[in-house]
Amino acid sequence: MKSNSTQDVILNPETLPSHVAIIMDGNGRWAKKKMLNRIKGHEQGSQIVRSIVTAARELKIGTLTLYAFSTENWARPKHEVKALMMLLKKSIVSQREELSKNNIRLNIIGQKHKLPLDVQKELEVTMELTKNNNKMLLNLALSYGSREEITTAFKRIAEKIESKDLDSRDITQDLICDHLYTRAMPDPDLIIRTSGEYRLSNFLLWQAAYSEIYICDTLWPDFTESEFIEILKNFQKRDRRFGKVACSTSNDG
Ligand code: FPP
Repeated sequence: MKSNSTQDVILNPETLPSHVAIIMDGNGRWAKKKMLNRIKGHEQGSQIVRSIVTAARELKIGTLTLYAFSTENWARPKHEVKALMMLLKKSIVSQREELSKNNIRLNIIGQKHKLPLDVQKELEVTMELTKNNNKMLLNLALSYGSREEITTAFKRIAEKIESKDLDSRDITQDLICDHLYTRAMPDPDLIIRTSGEYRLSNFLLWQAAYSEIYICDTLWPDFTESEFIEILKNFQKRDRRFGKVACSTSNDG
């Protein structure tokens, strides 16, 4: 059953982004504006996660990556970290069947081992249940930071060189990609950030080399499927040159 906003939406499949990544920002400010506790902002934010995952699946986005908890977020007040972990666990358990039914595969990028054990367990159960699903890959970035990801990749490559499984002359961009959490995935074509902040905040720094970026002022708990669709339409109008010259403007035609 299609949701109202995605019903009858015609997006050119040829220019649809294969991979959309979202920095879901503004939960705290949303709560503050409503004189609510920050946790209420995260709770409302998790409802929006559900609707955008469904919309992305219906719109035939191949990979959706959501920045849910950064390596830096551990420095937030203990009670907020605890509440976020509880909310994450609750969402994973309550949406497990829906992910399964919608043929969505769940994957985690980030330091999974640093998450509380009960959260790890629920994630493992869901990843196992959805491992053969192939309509959309949903990456949750949890305890994720690009600098940590790249540092870990460097360490693994160095270890392989030390053990003579690899020669330093074998280091290529593809080899580095193969050591990132996002191995075997396309780079994000589009990175969306809500709440009007113009920064990447340690998110997919290597992978974002040629990503189109869209910043909207909407706070994440107010983000809607319609706005998501408008952003995809905006993306489809962009001229992506990847450092080259557009065919229509080049001298040699
Ligand atoms: C940023 O808002 C948001 C987060 C750090 C957490 C994102 C979490 C959710 C959307 C809910 C749970 C996630 C899942 C996957 C179920 P902020 O707190 O930095 O907002 P602020 O900048 O306004 O303070």
